[in-house]
Amino acid sequence: MRTAELFRTKAINANHAPAGSELRRTLGPLDLTLLGIGAIIGAGIFVLTGVAAATQAGPAIVLSYAVAGTACAFSALAYAELAAAVGGCGSAYGYSYAGLGEIVAWIIGWDLILEYGVAVSAVAIGWSAYVENALQAMGLHIPEALTKGPAEGGWVNVPAALIVLALAGLLSLGVRESARVNAAMVVIKLLAIGVFIGVALFHVQPANWSPFAPFGWTGVMGGAALIFFAYIGFDAVSTTAEEARNPQRDLPIGILVSLAVCTLIYMLVAGLLTAVVAYPSLNVGSPVADVMLRLGYPWAAALVAAGAIAGLTTVMLVLYYGLTRVFLAMARDGLLPPAFARVSPRTRTPIRVIIVSGLVMATVAGLTPIGEVAELVNIGTLAAFLLVCIGVVTLRRTHPDLPRPFKTPWSPMVPILGGLSCLYLMFNLPLVTWLRFGLWLLLGILVYALYSRHHSLLAER
Ligand code: ALA
Repeated sequence: MRTAELFRTKAINANHAPAGSELRRTLGPLDLTLLGIGAIIGAGIFVLTGVAAATQAGPAIVLSYAVAGTACAFSALAYAELAAAVGGCGSAYGYSYAGLGEIVAWIIGWDLILEYGVAVSAVAIGWSAYVENALQAMGLHIPEALTKGPAEGGWVNVPAALIVLALAGLLSLGVRESARVNAAMVVIKLLAIGVFIGVALFHVQPANWSPFAPFGWTGVMGGAALIFFAYIGFDAVSTTAEEARNPQRDLPIGILVSLAVCTLIYMLVAGLLTAVVAYPSLNVGSPVADVMLRLGYPWAAALVAAGAIAGLTTVMLVLYYGLTRVFLAMARDGLLPPAFARVSPRTRTPIRVIIVSGLVMATVAGLTPIGEVAELVNIGTLAAFLLVCIGVVTLRRTHPDLPRPFKTPWSPMVPILGGLSCLYLMFNLPLVTWLRFGLWLLLGILVYALYSRHHSLLAER
């Protein structure tokens, strides 16, 4: 089938879901922005900033955040264009289908499932550690065997598995309910960050910023590759296309505003962290709470810890949500078993996908050391960003008349710069991450050859 035909089929498919798999349109622009902030602010700022400042960039970590934020902004503009023009809950999978054909779409869909799945399971383990600390501070103790997987000498990480199952329950209830819980938790984490900023502002010591870039430009770029993780998540907003009331206007708002807000917050927090204490001392597991303690504000440290727990919860919630929508889109097209293409008539959520993926992720979080392969999330996301940037350029050429409610400015320069920055950051990742990623894609190609190719509904049509 020619790309043009495929595109038409796909575009129609994206706007009109087949009977029995329609989602409920209830989300407004504020919901989408809060979902974006929910997915973005999490382990990156609360954990990674300290390590990156201490070992890579020094106080110039602020510049690392600016660099990574700019690279993400290019991709976010590309996402905003395709989310509004092509739509569909499959996000990069759907756009690739439209612009580049089925096999590329399959590969990127498969990649998105890995990205979101590994992110949720890995963050669940981090969440479990934070909750265990909080419970200990309150005098409650969970036996070690129940907070660690077998690889770390325990039996099963019960809190990590339980939080994934709890989120499965919430996501099954409905998108409205999930968005409300997300909004409440986003308020908590923003409040915690606000308190940190308010307190830290009064303890700035300019001497801590000198030298500003002890590791030079190389350090700044190394820091940017590391903290890129902190920006992951705005892409998940695009998977709400079929649940947004006015997707063509609101998806670009949700994607771009959430990214802009988070970039600003990140630069402020990173700048203050390094201005308040000497950067080498930030190499700890919870640098933001730690600095509050060192300044003598235990209540603020407790609030920051609560904010971090809320933050990790919303990251998991929104990425898990994104996974189920991409999965649903692929099942509707026949590339994954059609049983997964049905949504519950009562809650209008893809309950089967939610339960099956939840059980898999809970098992992985409870029993495996998945955190060790968390870099797969970076490479998977970068690959999806790259494809979306290529998609913008390709579709502008092949479908110049497609209505585009939002247009990436200075195209093709911006999407090309976006694609190049993604490639640059990808090449900064370790070889072993590339090998693991390659293995996952090979497995995907095998599944495609043995199953999906023969069941594809669009190719059949
Ligand atoms: N951006 C998300 C985080 O930092 C993935 O946790």
